[in-house]
Amino acid sequence: LVKKEKYLKAPNLKKTSKELNDLTLPLSNCGSCTLYKDSSYHPHNYWGTLNNPDVLFVGEAPGKTEKATGKAFQGRAGQLLQKELKAMGIDSFAIANVVACRPETIDPKYGRLRDRKPTPTEVKNCAENLDSIIAQVNPKYIAALGATAMQRLKIKGGITANRGVMIENDYGKIIPVYHPAYILRSPNFITEFRQDLKTLKGFLEGNKDIAKPQGDYIVVEDPTEVEELE
Ligand code: URA
Repeated sequence: LVKKEKYLKAPNLKKTSKELNDLTLPLSNCGSCTLYKDSSYHPHNYWGTLNNPDVLFVGEAPGKTEKATGKAFQGRAGQLLQKELKAMGIDSFAIANVVACRPETIDPKYGRLRDRKPTPTEVKNCAENLDSIIAQVNPKYIAALGATAMQRLKIKGGITANRGVMIENDYGKIIPVYHPAYILRSPNFITEFRQDLKTLKGFLEGNKDIAKPQGDYIVVEDPTEVEELE
């Protein structure tokens, strides 16, 4: 039986760099969360400019490389994201995930661990952590990378219909953007991805002329109202 403590300190948290631990997180559900199994999982899976950056990028969950390094977006998708941000001149940013530890499962075909989507319970377990990251980092904009991040931030609607739209709710000013892993799978969508980063850059530069396309989203009261986290 795992004892739940309100402000559980993650045991044996490996510090891979100073910036990883600059925020104080509640970590209140880690002890009973199926994702946090041992000290090889890093509940501080975020990095970047942690003090009022222009943008906080929110992804879904760490993968193998992110678990190994303790830093979000370090693998192929992360490298793509970082390259495109550099090219767009977006340099004041932080990166975090909906869940901080890697959701993994054994691939029945190959017998190796592979990524899986976080379950709604796992998303809920990590909710206080992400809320706390958003509150402490206090970014000007939040880029929700993909549907899981979008739904977690209380926006119900498809990513395709809502990408590049600026949606304001109690989390702040949110712009849904395709997840970079999707771009790796469907490289043609790099055009839309770049377009959305450009829109974001335009907002940062105070460009009032940017057309805000109307999406088909609704803002829900409670993220659990968005049943299908896909
Ligand atoms: N995909 C994510 O959503 N987050 C990461 O950190 C890496 C890949």
